[in-house]
Amino acid sequence: MTGLGHIAFRELISHFKGCGLLFSEMCSAKALPYENRYTSSVFKWRDEEASSLVCQIFGHDPTIMAAAAGRIENEGFFGVDINFGCSVADICRRGGGAELLKTPALAVNIVTAVRKAVSVPLFVKFRTGWTDDPQPASDLAKRFEDAGADALTFHPRVAPDRRSRPPKWEYIGNIKQSVSIPVFGNGDVFDINDCKRMFDISGCDGIALGRIAVAQPWVFSAWINGFTPEADIHMECALRTADLLEKYYEPTRAVKLFKDFAKYFMASFKFGHTLYNRLCRADSMDIIKENIHIVFHNTPELASRPNMNMFTG
Ligand SMILES: Cc1cc2nc3c(=O)[nH]c(=O)nc-3n(C[C@H](O)[C@H](O)[C@H](O)COP(=O)(O)O)c2cc1C
Repeated sequence: MTGLGHIAFRELISHFKGCGLLFSEMCSAKALPYENRYTSSVFKWRDEEASSLVCQIFGHDPTIMAAAAGRIENEGFFGVDINFGCSVADICRRGGGAELLKTPALAVNIVTAVRKAVSVPLFVKFRTGWTDDPQPASDLAKRFEDAGADALTFHPRVAPDRRSRPPKWEYIGNIKQSVSIPVFGNGDVFDINDCKRMFDISGCDGIALGRIAVAQPWVFSAWINGFTPEADIHMECALRTADLLEKYYEPTRAVKLFKDFAKYFMASFKFGHTLYNRLCRADSMDIIKENIHIVFHNTPELASRPNMNMFTG
């Protein structure tokens, strides 16, 4: 996830363990062949995570997408993920992300070209499309499979969408029915019961967690390994995140990325918005760290369900 799934956050997730694969922030395929991993803000990884890390790319030119995928394979990543899901205006205007769901033949050409270029696992992330009808996405899923995709991640919402209306998990079942490759369901899985319900409703093979992994970075370990967090887990996570961001980014960017993280991390709390303001009223990481101690000192009350749309709904 852009601004969230960076190298520092992934190190935090790895600390708690339990996660199968991690996906990078989406990277521009055009820029990727020229990126320097030590100075790039997004194409940046730890050697020890590469074997379970999938690098996501966006773009609209099959040749450029194939070249980017080739570099990803050469760098030793687990796999490549093509983004046909993002409906952010800037990305769609540039012909990338969900915009390609309007031109299925081009989307399939991209999958074909990337498949030819690499032998590592190839994932495609996509969504319902631009109308609330599961059929075009189901047809496209089959064409992605035929073009050589190894697995699909499906987010059953129409574009554009700010994640305020619930996703239609039954559409994940339509995708699952139309292919024989693994399908990962995605969208609004915030607790273990959601997780079980998504499996039951859709028959999907796995689940891709987004925002809940930011709100509860130990979530994989909790749901898979039965990890039970201590009462000070939020303070620990926030401090660890601040340290990791300082380790990988220059100070201004580190502070900005901490604030982006906090928008979802504070979603777990009853007065998350107010607490966010207290935490993030700062222009340096030192002040943020002082705020972390103040905000979490009295163990603020958790909400019964995280409010993931605190800043977008
Ligand atoms: C801030 C933000 C950035 C995102 N960036 C990406 C991205 O770069 N690539 C992608 O495939 N999805 C991205 N997403 C979408 C999520 O991967 C996911 O599909 C969506 O949030 C629904 O899943 P969730 O309810 O588990 O969060 C982003 C979501 C958010 C909130």
